[in-house]
Amino acid sequence: MLKNINPTSTEAWKKLEAHFIETKELHLKDLFKDNPSRKDTFSISFNDVFVDYSKNRITEKTKELLLELAEEVELEDAISKYFYGDKINATEDRAVLHTALRSSSEDEVFVEGKDIKPKIQASLRKIRAFSNKVISGKWKGYTGKSITDIVNIGVGGSDLGPNMAVQALQFYKNKLNTHFVSNIDGDHVVEVLKKINPETTLFIVVSKTFTTDETIVNANTIKDWFLQQGPTIFDVSKHFVAVTANLTEVNNFGIPKENVFRLWDWVGGRFSIWSSVGLSISLSVGFDNFRELLNGAEEMDIHFKNEKLDRNIPVIMALIGIWYNNFYKSQTEVILPYSQYLYKLPVYLQQAIMESNGKGVDRNGNPVNYQTGNIILGSTGTNAQHAFMQLLHQGTKLIPSDFIGYKEPLFKVGNHHKKLMANFYAQTDALAFGQTRAEVHLGLKTSGNQDKINHLLPFKNFKGNRPSNSILFEKLTPNSLGKLIAIYEHKVFVQGVVWNIFSYDQFGIELGKELSKKYFDN
Ligand code: F6P
Repeated sequence: MLKNINPTSTEAWKKLEAHFIETKELHLKDLFKDNPSRKDTFSISFNDVFVDYSKNRITEKTKELLLELAEEVELEDAISKYFYGDKINATEDRAVLHTALRSSSEDEVFVEGKDIKPKIQASLRKIRAFSNKVISGKWKGYTGKSITDIVNIGVGGSDLGPNMAVQALQFYKNKLNTHFVSNIDGDHVVEVLKKINPETTLFIVVSKTFTTDETIVNANTIKDWFLQQGPTIFDVSKHFVAVTANLTEVNNFGIPKENVFRLWDWVGGRFSIWSSVGLSISLSVGFDNFRELLNGAEEMDIHFKNEKLDRNIPVIMALIGIWYNNFYKSQTEVILPYSQYLYKLPVYLQQAIMESNGKGVDRNGNPVNYQTGNIILGSTGTNAQHAFMQLLHQGTKLIPSDFIGYKEPLFKVGNHHKKLMANFYAQTDALAFGQTRAEVHLGLKTSGNQDKINHLLPFKNFKGNRPSNSILFEKLTPNSLGKLIAIYEHKVFVQGVVWNIFSYDQFGIELGKELSKKYFDN
């Protein structure tokens, strides 16, 4: 069990409150002037990732106090419980072991007294063998043709992770086309069916519970459509496979045991991309690339587990998030990948972060008297600059952002990448340093008379002092994508520990489900 410590009762919290009052007016411009090597002071390098957190409204003292807070809530004890299979998802009486799914070490991990590693290895072998068979064309459909299209039928964690990763890794993809059906909206189903040929399509029904209405309704509609195209019920096994923990329901649906890829209750839906839920990723980019995704995440796990807290990427990012959320009372965080391949990352992270830490009750069952989970907003740069960045630059709210970028592009097209990254750096500078009235004035001088300049000055002013992190990787690869996702997974965990909430249940979605049944029956 995780410890049960109200963060506001710690000494560090009180010190942080006082420290906030002392430092809240400090401007990033002055902090950089006072310490020109601030970027060296506030950055972390680990393998192919560099995290620059110097453009945050923090001093060395802030960092020290935040680390004291981590110590007082016994974060290190929590980290070891997380990795070693304690039932930290206490409200569902489960361990949280997505980290075990990507572990290549020989170390055993026990759940209910049994080592789960052999099961994980067997499941990876099954994913590899199946992926090879489909990709090589040896797996045949009901008319003897090879598979050309994959349709992943799932919702939430059974859709968002594979969907995001398949898009993110398109550069590495093979000839198979991958589609995703998630919404219970029939239009979504029909639009996908319009694109595929039943003879050459493989459907993966992904549902941990195999009771999620969206997925089961969509899967039945698709199975009926499939059967109407000519094949018999005996052909279902050539075109339907399932990923689930519920063997009874999958059997009722008509998918044979040998077509089932297992999941376990210690894998949470929003952290399941590393399990058989990632089958469509392995099919799309090949098993070796899927394994690389896992390897990257495992590298980040090792860093998170072993690195000292003051040099630990997820810990530092989580604590800085708490600094803004609980002391500046900011409510939103923005995630800005400067790679079009990552356009689904913000939505994926919305579920991982908001479904986990959108909780208002602490581990005693009492309402919390402090803010918890943030609102997550995001889009790719530079598109975001032409959509919502105005509010970050000049709005009334303090919204910290994460800029994610790559030193090298995948396709080297003219000077596109140089321009893309010029925007990346320019945005973080503009947010942090803004522009003084004198600078604005200088810029306007050539463009009109003094009255006009005076009139425009307030509108063109940028106060700056808006924080950001820059997360820079060498290149977008399956491995670096794995690391990136794992950073955020661990950030979620750390924040949940500090906020003294249960991050791994999601009871908040149940009421709506129940009420929709009532409306449906009427
Ligand atoms: O949105 C609620 C939720 O339970 C998610 O946590 C989960 O990822 C999703 O539904 C899908 O669940 P299942 O895989 O059981 O269909």
